[in-house]
This record gives sequence, structure tokens and C-alpha cells, in this order.
Amino acid sequence: MRDIIEQLEDKRAQARLGGGERRIAAQHAKGKLTARERLEVLLDEGSFEEYDMFVEHRSHDFGLAETTVPGDGVVTGWGTVNGRLVFVFSQDFTVFGGSLSEAHAEKICKIMDQALKVGAPVIGLNDSGGARIQEGVASLAGYAEVFQRNVLASGVVPQISVVMGPCAGGAVYSPAMTDFIFMVKDSSYMFVTGPDVVKTVTQETVTHEELGGAITHSKVSGVADMAFENDVEALLETRRLIDFLPLSNRERAPQRASADPVTRVEAALDTLVPDNPNKPYDMIELITKIVDEGDFYELQPDFAGNVVIGFARIAGETIGIVANQPLVLAGCLDIDSARKAGRFVRFCDCFEIPILTLVDVPGFLPGTTQEYGAIIKHGAKLLFAYAEATVPKVTLITRKAYGGAYDVMASKHLRGDVNFAWPTAEIAVMGPKGAVEIIFRAELGDAEKMTAREAEYREKFANPFIAGNRGFIDDVILPRNTRRRLARAFAMLRGKQLENPSKKHDNIPL
Ligand code: HXC
Repeated sequence: MRDIIEQLEDKRAQARLGGGERRIAAQHAKGKLTARERLEVLLDEGSFEEYDMFVEHRSHDFGLAETTVPGDGVVTGWGTVNGRLVFVFSQDFTVFGGSLSEAHAEKICKIMDQALKVGAPVIGLNDSGGARIQEGVASLAGYAEVFQRNVLASGVVPQISVVMGPCAGGAVYSPAMTDFIFMVKDSSYMFVTGPDVVKTVTQETVTHEELGGAITHSKVSGVADMAFENDVEALLETRRLIDFLPLSNRERAPQRASADPVTRVEAALDTLVPDNPNKPYDMIELITKIVDEGDFYELQPDFAGNVVIGFARIAGETIGIVANQPLVLAGCLDIDSARKAGRFVRFCDCFEIPILTLVDVPGFLPGTTQEYGAIIKHGAKLLFAYAEATVPKVTLITRKAYGGAYDVMASKHLRGDVNFAWPTAEIAVMGPKGAVEIIFRAELGDAEKMTAREAEYREKFANPFIAGNRGFIDDVILPRNTRRRLARAFAMLRGKQLENPSKKHDNIPL
């Protein structure tokens, strides 16, 4: 018995040491934590239960038979985040560069299977050289097993990928299929083919960071939701995100007690919208003034800024917020913003998170770049997402709601449950100037007449009453009372039940 216990301790010590002191020092020198240190930051103290510490690869080629490390380059198991269950894997770059072997993949699959059974999120900390080159197709098979589970888990349990080192080749597709991707600046990158291959094929010279670093993916491609300064910040923000989410689609998001009264009146909101309809204002100011304690977890803040998405709470209940941002492109919808918001709406709908939509949208962005880039298909993604969503949907039009974009932004016609407008709302087919230039084209040469026509159009349509008259707007509310009215609407909707027709799945325009 004593021998076995000693053996056990030896193996545990060996596993904890991963690839050894030298490689751990190299990891630290790059400003990165080790796989185990990361889990210590991510999980509640003492909550981690490790699985498969003694798993080793079963390969013999290229000298691998003599090189085994208990755990085989990935630390897996479960723990808690603020007392709530999560499953985790953390790739250990000090062991074969965190590369994925058949055994390494089996460990990840085991926790994914268990997460699905018990209904808890999967958080993957990625730091890997990709497929274990010495293993060949066995390693590729391992990736595919993970991919398959990513898909089956999608919409059942939240999946979060934190990319904290290399993530290249087909390996990027596992994070890509998870719900959120966080990256760490300067130490992580994701690309399908690296700079060397790019140089050979396209003659472009590009660095790892430029091609697939955290800034690139959080600003340019939109692949990453967030870019953080270092490992610790990324992990602490992952904890904060988990706090907003339900553990699975079988549960509701946690209620958090709040000292912020729902009756709080915000007089400053009465003057948020400028008198001049062409002047912008910051939609985030509205959001922080109406949510509990001003706590807004914005996602993708540096990508497609014309739409704002993120989580907050009202009366302690998590809500997803989608808002046009007049500060960027006047709040127009375009390809990137439609993709960004559409995916977010679908996440909220999967996990029964009510959606608040704040509307100030002059329409879809015109131009060949947009049309050639398939704005028709991409814009339809957001429309489709809103139309299929069955979660409580509360909409507030603060100013412009023009054209197709009015329909798209959780209008009454897409089963918006409660649709409010501020007195400053303008709901019309298009802005007054564009409208009169079309319907009074014959008078275009007469500036005076056109000004009068524009004023007439504005007078008629630049208000919420025509929509209100038809019941498309349920009420016109005073800006200062917005928090209370939204809180009451969401509380009323807590028991909402709505089902879409039975089908295998829909065919969202991809
Ligand atoms: C086996 C690997 C490995 C891999 C790295 N190592 N990648 N071992 N398989 N894929 C080992 C190295 O041999 C080294 O071992 C240790 O990890 C650290 O690697 P270094 O190169 O010293 O580190 P660094 O300079 O930081 O460079 C990291 C790296 C580089 C950029 C990731 O190692 C690299 O380019 N690796 C190969 C990446 C790759 O082409 N992977 C296959 C991608 S295709 P020692 O013993 O010296 O510490 C793919 C397909 C997935 O993944 C398909 C899914 C469908």
C-alpha cells in the first residue's frame, strides 16, 4: 500500500511538473502562466477536481515511446466559478507544445461529454502547437471528435474558448464553434495558415501578430469577442462572463441581488437625444444608466461599433442588449454589425436570456462594398435571428427607426413582446430628405419647395404616433422612466411561452 501511495505521489508530482522546470521558465518568460496556474486564477480556490492525471499517449513513432508525461499536455476536470459548476481543459504548452494527441483529445472529450450530461459550461484554455505531428491521423481524428462535441454542445451548454498561445491550422475550428472567444494580446494567435505559408502562396509578408493576433481578431475579423492585456485579466473576465450566464439550456441565468432600485429615475435621459436629428449621442450612456449598478459587460467592443452587444442585469435578471450606436456610421446596419448582433441574438435565444433592443437606426449602409459583400445575406442573419427568437423581447426606439432596419430591430412584427418608443422616435420608411427627393422628384430644382416638403414630411412621420396608432408601439414612455418601465416589462414576461413550428432545424442564411 505504501509503495502504491508513493508511486501515486511520484506520478502526481511528475504530472504537475509538466514539461519540466526549463520549459515552465520559458513559458513564464513569455509572460504566460502555466496550464495549472491558469486554472488557479479561473476557478474558485480549492474547487478543482482533476481527471486523467495519469493518461499518457500510446505512440511509438519518432521516439515518442521514451517520452511520456503523465497528463499528456492537457489538464482537465471540473471546478466552480463563484460556486457554480464549470468543466475545464487547459492545454500545457510545456508538454509537446500543448499539441493534441489521441489521448489528449480523449481527455477533452471526456469532460465535454460529462458537461453535456450534467448541464454545465465548458471553458477551454487553448495553448497548443496543434495536431501532435508524430501521431498523424490519430491526432486529426482527435480534433474531429472535439469538433463533433462542440457542435452537439452548442445551444445546450455555454462554451467559452480562451486562446492563450498558438492556435493554428484546423485547430482554430474548435474555438470558432464555441460561443465566445477571448484572446490575450501579444501571446496568442489564431490562423488557418501561418505567415510562412501565406508568404509562399500570396507573397504577402505578415507577422504572426498581424495575421492572427488578439488585436487583429478583435478589431478586424471579429473572430474574437475580447482582447485582454494578459492571462490574469482574460481569466478574471471569463469568471465575470460566467456570472451572467445560465449553466445550460435547462436552467435560467442566476439572479443577482441588487441594491439599485428599479424605480430609479434618470432625469438626464430626457436630454440624451439631441434636438438636431443628425447629431449623434452615445448609446452606451443610455445602457449604463438603465441597467443594475451601471454594470454592462460589452462584447466585441472594438468590432463593428455601429452595433453594441453585451450582457447586463435589470432587477437582478440577466438580459442581452443589442443597440444601434449613433456614434459609429450614424448607427447604420452593415455586414459586420448584422453578423455580430445576429449571433448574439441566437446565443441569448439558445439560453433563454431575454433581449433588450435599443433602436436608433437610419437604415442599412449603402454601397458596392456592402452589396458585393452580400449584405443581403448577412443582414438577413440578424432578421432571421430576431424572427426565430422566442425569448422575451423588449424593444425601445429612441430616435430613428427607418426602413427595413425598423423591421429587423425586434419590431412588433417579428414578435417583439413589448415595444416602447421615446417621444423623440421617428418611425418611417426613410429619412425626410431622402423621402421627399423621391416622392417630389419633379420639384427637385426648387430648393424652397423642397425645404417645405421636408418639413411637412418630418412633421408627419418624425414622431412615434403613427406607429402607436396602429399598435406597433405599445407605449410612448418618458426617457427618465425607462429603467422602471423596462423592469416591469421583463418581469411581466418572465412566464412567456412561445414555440416555433416543429422542424429538424432552420436554414439560417449563412
Ligand atoms: C508535436 C510540437 C508541436 C506539434 C510544437 N511542438 N508543436 N510537438 N507536435 N504540433 C513541440 C516542439 O517540438 C517543442 O518541443 C515544443 O513543442 C515547443 O515548441 P517550440 O517550437 O520550441 O516553441 P515556439 O518557438 O514557441 O513555437 C511554437 C509553435 C511551433 C509556433 C507552435 O512549435 C510550431 O510551429 N509548431 C508546429 C505547428 C504546426 O504546424 N502544427 C500542426 C498544425 S496543423 P521541445 O521538446 O523542444 O520542447 C494542425 C491540424 C489540425 O494542427 C487539424 C484539425 C482538423
